[in-house]
Amino acid sequence: MRFKPRTAATKPLHVAIIMDGNGRWAEARGWPRIEGHRAGAAVVRPLVEAAPNLGIRTLTLFAFSSDNWKRPPSEVSALMRLVREFLDAETSRCCKEGVRLSVLGLRTRLPGTLRRAIASAESATASGKVLNLNIALDYSSRDAILQAAMRLRGAAAISRADFSAALSNPPSRRATPDVDLLIRTGGERRLSDFLLWECAYAELYFTDTMWPDLDAEDLNAAIENYRSRERRFGGTPPAISDRVRGDAGLLAVSGNQDCWLH
Ligand code: IPE
Ligand code: IPE
Ligand code: MG
Repeated sequence: MRFKPRTAATKPLHVAIIMDGNGRWAEARGWPRIEGHRAGAAVVRPLVEAAPNLGIRTLTLFAFSSDNWKRPPSEVSALMRLVREFLDAETSRCCKEGVRLSVLGLRTRLPGTLRRAIASAESATASGKVLNLNIALDYSSRDAILQAAMRLRGAAAISRADFSAALSNPPSRRATPDVDLLIRTGGERRLSDFLLWECAYAELYFTDTMWPDLDAEDLNAAIENYRSRERRFGGTPPAISDRVRGDAGLLAVSGNQDCWLH
């Protein structure tokens, strides 16, 4: 499906997705859970293709949480293999389409083959300007916050921007912007330790659709829903005459004022 391109005046969005429901999707069909993960990996490409025309500049996908190590070793290794296969298969297309791939999370516990695939995908796509595609792998937001606090300990003053930058892992990575819209598939309504700092003012969108069934139409519906909302960032509603909906609400009230702690 083709979506109408957004005008340049529209604020580029950061959409983050908790891709949940693969296991239940497979179990409902009497299949092993890994088949759900395989089907889940296959839906990423069409969503990435649709994202720029939906006004998305940054798309962050939660692929494996630090708590997912608790799963059976066979499921963990299948997930690691699927991520590596995704990177191997998609890197050249990402280069062509201006998609900059990067991974957030711990890395040191990932298999060596996957670490090498990440390094090569990140360097090959580093000049991409159309879409930042972040994949969160062995990611825990609370651990990222603790690490940032450790990095900044001893500093005389810390701003929100300093803290955002210190949250990046690896530290050389650019800061992850605030999330505009957080989507969770699979029917659960929780954050599961994902982007807690970055989601401070995110709009939340939960859908019962299992991740392998999500398509570009569903992503479009989530964005349309987001655009119908009024973001206030703690302010009062804009005057009726200035009232603008969704992302345009940002023009009236900015959430980006910085705050320094001494
Ligand atoms: C999300 O699907 C993928 C990962 C967490 C890796 P799940 O595997 O959590 O699927 P459900 O929630 O069990 O259905
Ligand atoms: C969150 O899903 C992690 C990912 C989607 C990668 P989980 O299925 O692991 O979360 P909980 O256990 O239901 O909170
Ligand atoms: Mg789950």
